[in-house]
Amino acid sequence: MSRKYNVAVVGANGAVGEEILTILQEIDFPLKKIVPLASSRSAGKSVTFNDKEVLIKELTNDVFKEEDIEIALFSAGGSVSAEFAPSAVEAGAVVIDNTSHFRMDAKIPLVVPEVNPQDIAKWKNTGIIANPNCSTIQMVQALKPLDEAYDLLRVDVSTYQATSGGGKTAMEELVTQMQEFFAFKLNDAEHKAFPHQIALNVIPQIDVFMENGYTKEEMKMVNETTKIMDKDIEVSATCVRVPTLRGHAEALTMTFDSDVDANEARELLSKAPNLVILDKPEESLYPMPATCVDMNETFVGRIRNDTYKSNILHMFIVADNLRVGAATNAVRIAQKWVEMEGEK
Ligand SMILES: NC(=O)c1ccc[n+]([C@@H]2O[C@H](COP(=O)([O-])OP(=O)(O)OC[C@H]3O[C@@H](n4cnc5c(N)ncnc54)[C@H](OP(=O)(O)O)[C@@H]3O)[C@@H](O)[C@H]2O)c1
Repeated sequence: MSRKYNVAVVGANGAVGEEILTILQEIDFPLKKIVPLASSRSAGKSVTFNDKEVLIKELTNDVFKEEDIEIALFSAGGSVSAEFAPSAVEAGAVVIDNTSHFRMDAKIPLVVPEVNPQDIAKWKNTGIIANPNCSTIQMVQALKPLDEAYDLLRVDVSTYQATSGGGKTAMEELVTQMQEFFAFKLNDAEHKAFPHQIALNVIPQIDVFMENGYTKEEMKMVNETTKIMDKDIEVSATCVRVPTLRGHAEALTMTFDSDVDANEARELLSKAPNLVILDKPEESLYPMPATCVDMNETFVGRIRNDTYKSNILHMFIVADNLRVGAATNAVRIAQKWVEMEGEK
């Protein structure tokens, strides 16, 4: 009989954590026991898992050892990972971390299984594997097959990011503001999750600004892309929050070292893992956030050659940020880790 694992989900009742639990029920994961963890605020509440109520436990330094955890999926914020991931590693677990805390540490692999699965083997360095930023994951999935064929030099990306990227309270802020709008009570002064009113607005700022004029979110896309693809690709990002609940969209302009043909590129992308082509402009068929919710694929459309340069291609991609951009990628890393390392 193949081995089964004790799995902890840290941040189990958050936007990403809930999605991880849902995916673990949908797929055939070799699970012995699931242990949902959150703060003392949630300890004692429960989550439904495979038709049973499972109590949420408080995250402590001892809980990983007490529960004999072998795989710990963290999504409770960077400071929580910084404080508790070492205890999980010490207890013998592999940590798969959804926060930005460990991503740029040279010793820690940053993995998108469709792009750099081989880096999972570096988990032994520290016991930790980092999950990239939601916007980076879907982009590198789509860039990888094109880079292999045409040698990618540069990508210019503009994002249209959903409110769920900011967690549950950020989604609630959009819903509340829309309710206020319909009640003629929308008050621009009342916003916490975003720097401005998000309802009926778009905000060209995600996270804080850095000295170079880019935001932290934009620089994550720059730095994480080169680390995952292990290549000095030039990346310039403009990250924008839009009033949708789920699904990040991205407009990409890619410059290659060789000429690129849109029809050939479409064919290549259609064969790549976990990409789905939605590209029939004559039928108004293209990817949109509303059609990618709860899906585990990245959708690609509007693939077209540049009007001026034969080595430039444009396209529009969309993925569910809570799934592809977080939970699905984390679970795929866990699956791959089990395949590569777990049986040893
Ligand atoms: N949303 C996305 O698209 C996305 C994508 C990739 C990565 N991430 C990252 O994943 C993390 C979680 O994001 P989210 O969107 O799921 O946030 P969220 O909806 O706000 O959920 C946060 C979760 O963390 C728990 N938590 C907070 N403080 C804690 C503490 N001190 N100890 C234990 N648990 C604590 C919360 O439990 P309580 O209810 O008990 O406080 C809750 O379960 C963040 O680091 C985020 O950057 C998010």
